[in-house]
Amino acid sequence: MREAVASAPGKVNLILRSGAKGEDGFHPLFSVFEAISLREYVVARTRRKPGVGVTTKVYRPSMLGEGAPAFDQELTQKMAELPEEQHLAHRAARALQPLAATTQWGANSSGVELTVYKCIPIAGGMAGGSADAAATLVAVNELWQLGLEPAQLEMVGRQLGADVPACLRGEWSMGIERGDHLTSLANDGSTRHWWALAFVEGGLSTPAVFREFDELGLGETNLPTELSGADLDITAASAVAAGLLRNDLAEASLSLRPELAAVGESSLQAGAVGWMVSGSGPTIAALAPDRETASEVCQRWVDQGLADSAAVVWGPGKGAQIEEALPGWV
Ligand code: C5P
Repeated sequence: MREAVASAPGKVNLILRSGAKGEDGFHPLFSVFEAISLREYVVARTRRKPGVGVTTKVYRPSMLGEGAPAFDQELTQKMAELPEEQHLAHRAARALQPLAATTQWGANSSGVELTVYKCIPIAGGMAGGSADAAATLVAVNELWQLGLEPAQLEMVGRQLGADVPACLRGEWSMGIERGDHLTSLANDGSTRHWWALAFVEGGLSTPAVFREFDELGLGETNLPTELSGADLDITAASAVAAGLLRNDLAEASLSLRPELAAVGESSLQAGAVGWMVSGSGPTIAALAPDRETASEVCQRWVDQGLADSAAVVWGPGKGAQIEEALPGWV
């Protein structure tokens, strides 16, 4: 039996602008992604039985971001009920399986057993499912020694979900079309954004948010295709970046979940410099000037009963990568 371990980051969208629904039923997007320090881990093992098996273990990130995430039995049980073909890790392995036939591994057995260690909240607007796919693509590419280059993995990833390329690439990237055609933004390593994330009960489905977006008659007619002028400062320190945060989907998400606005406002009272709905929500991401403030924001949310749980994370984080071993908390 061979084994490969990989990880991939979740994301926040520093900028998410959306046009009105196109003829293909999708909304054209202009997005700036920041990969964050919350990561999913995937172990891929060869097996004799053909096909793809997936087991998912769900963890809750610790509130201060550094302690060990806690195993969540209830959500782990729920994930076990998800039909396999809806699991993005399963679909990612399936997408690479035909290529395995050309390798020595495929000659004997092209079955693979995946174990996914989930830390990114499910249906939270932080690309957890896409990170599962990204980590699986990297792990399986290694397991079967397929030799696919990053650009090739990105091409496969795009077919699995619009956020998969951003999870593969990590760091900062700008996406157009469905947000899946990326350009990397320069990262000199000098900026670290500290985020407080509020996880609230119940997810928000992306299609439902886009439907609400349509019903509210939202959607820009002239979406940009590249970053211009001041928008480039989105990669600057928190205080500058906060003024540029923008999410066109927020109005639709807040229309479906009005109570989320109070979560954002509360973060400002604790010293956050800006806040936004993450992706299609319902996670609220508050940008803090430093780690201590981010931690105070989380504490306030929990004390006020505004969040089910909260976590401090930072960005930009690395893209999907092979790992020597699983983290100690597994
Ligand atoms: O990308 P994802 O699979 O999460 O999208 C789910 C649904 O959200 C799509 O089927 C579509 O209805 C809607 N969507 C959209 N425009 C996008 C992305 C998603 O309308 N750019």
